[in-house]
Amino acid sequence: MKKTGFIFDLDGVIVDTAKYHYLAWRKLANALGFEFTEEQNEQFKGVSRKRCLEILLNIGGIQATKEQFNSWLVEKNEDYLSLIENMDESEILPDVQKVLSFLKNHNMPIALGSASKNARPILEKVKLMDYFDVVVDGTHVTKAKPDPEVFLIAAEQLGVHPEDCVVFEDAVAGIEAANNAGMLSIGIGEAKVLSKANFVFANFTEIDVKFINRLME
Ligand code: BG6
Ligand code: MG
Repeated sequence: MKKTGFIFDLDGVIVDTAKYHYLAWRKLANALGFEFTEEQNEQFKGVSRKRCLEILLNIGGIQATKEQFNSWLVEKNEDYLSLIENMDESEILPDVQKVLSFLKNHNMPIALGSASKNARPILEKVKLMDYFDVVVDGTHVTKAKPDPEVFLIAAEQLGVHPEDCVVFEDAVAGIEAANNAGMLSIGIGEAKVLSKANFVFANFTEIDVKFINRLME
């Protein structure tokens, strides 16, 4: 397939931060007087902070002024930051480093393509920054996944044509973004949820180096 650029989503692919996002959103929902379930949280994966709050308020049937909206965004992020404050390497998902090291040893360009504005501090906390040649995050994009912008910027910065890139993603919106970018999409999660992906694996322990080798040949 001769793939020469490898792009990783962060939340739910490299680290299991989805649970911390969920706890922070649930705290806000509860403070506003309604429940927010883990099932509802599925819709938040890959989605920008602002869009998540819009969906949350819709679930709770709450109208907000611009000031309230902005202050709830800040409140959620502060809670999220305090939950990830002590995060370390132990929270890297299984075998992520195996795949990153394999690609690095083969001199493959590697990028992060995340909707999160907290991506850089998280990569630093889990000490994975050195693997990445390029980091594109929520501070660089104007259009959210499923728009391909984040991955197209990553490909451009890597100096690789989009069709030569592979994307690892756990979110439905992220798989659509990769497909929209003309890239090979690899879903990390459940096949029935990520049905639009070119390949799906439950997690990186299921991806052997032979598979990665085949992508590079
Ligand atoms: C994505 C997560 O990676 O980043 C979403 O899957 C999250 O759940 C989004 O809302 C934005 O993250 P942050 O850290 O900028 O609030
Ligand atoms: Mg994700």
